[in-house]
Amino acid sequence: MIPVNPSAPHPFTTLRQTAPTESDVPVALPTSQKKIAPNFDPIARPYRWMEALTFGRALARCRNHFLPQLANLNSDCNSTIRNALLFGDGDGRFTAALLAASPHLHADAVDLSPAMLRLLTRRAHAAHPTAAARLRTHHADALAFAKNRTSHPAYDLIVTHFFLDCLTQPELDALSRNLAHHAQPQTLWLLSDFRIPTGPMRLPARALVRSLYLAFRLLTGLRITRLPDHAAALTAAGFTRIAQHHSLAGMLTAELWAFTPKAAQPAYTPAMLLPTQRARDAAGPPDPVPNPEPASPSLPEPDPGVFRPDPPAPPQDDRNPACA
Ligand SMILES: C[S@@+](CC[C@H](N)C(=O)[O-])C[C@H]1O[C@@H](n2cnc3c(N)ncnc32)[C@H](O)[C@@H]1O
Repeated sequence: MIPVNPSAPHPFTTLRQTAPTESDVPVALPTSQKKIAPNFDPIARPYRWMEALTFGRALARCRNHFLPQLANLNSDCNSTIRNALLFGDGDGRFTAALLAASPHLHADAVDLSPAMLRLLTRRAHAAHPTAAARLRTHHADALAFAKNRTSHPAYDLIVTHFFLDCLTQPELDALSRNLAHHAQPQTLWLLSDFRIPTGPMRLPARALVRSLYLAFRLLTGLRITRLPDHAAALTAAGFTRIAQHHSLAGMLTAELWAFTPKAAQPAYTPAMLLPTQRARDAAGPPDPVPNPEPASPSLPEPDPGVFRPDPPAPPQDDRNPACA
């Protein structure tokens, strides 16, 4: 295990915000809650290439699967998604794509790794002329952030791509419960992760997941050894799965969940959320949105996570005057 620099303030004891700044009261946690955190700094730079070499474009496609629908919801001032919370987005390819696709959206990105956050910030700022003003980054533990952040209005979108697998089941249960406090009816939770399919791919998937955990243990000190049951955690916290897409022979899942607290259930209408994804049930029938797999893994040349408007729009206030 690679412990986090012991002389530095422990990320679990302080919520520290990185640039761009916005006042956010530091939150001290009891020493008893300290634990050794994984350290993703050493793999922050090569992370994208390691991913491309092992999975080609499969993970990127999984992350971005529902992005067009989210961007549709966000394309004008009537957008239903204005505040997003992204946990563990790593080097920020999805954050950048989301901010570029949704010019009215503001985002809080939370990560334990300063190196990942630096890459995320740079990538997001390059993605859209107003992204710098719309992104706040937080060097913090997601569990502490979700528990202690009280001064923010409810989030409309929560994003956890390949992050929940860094948590134990009790941690994920607690995170989901705490996030429910930051949600309102119709808040969406977008996630992607590895999964163990049934059938002939079950054993290869288990071997793959085991070897990934071993690699991350060696490279980052991550102590987790099994995938948590995110469906159980989210369901118990009041979220309902409204769309799901499996890829890579069933070993990857991209899912959209909506916050449907008991009191709000009679009024909840999934059709309002995702017109192209309605009529999904919790079991997740096949996804009509095509997502073909590549013939062979390929290395992306220009960063696909960085959206470059052509021609680039001049910097401007991101608020549409009609939305005031
Ligand atoms: C496996 S990487 C996933 C990165 C990216 N989301 C992706 O789709 O590839 C996990 C990320 O979560 C961060 N992370 C792990 N545990 C965390 C925690 N408890 N709180 C905040 N960030 C955490 C790591 O620093 C890393 O950037």
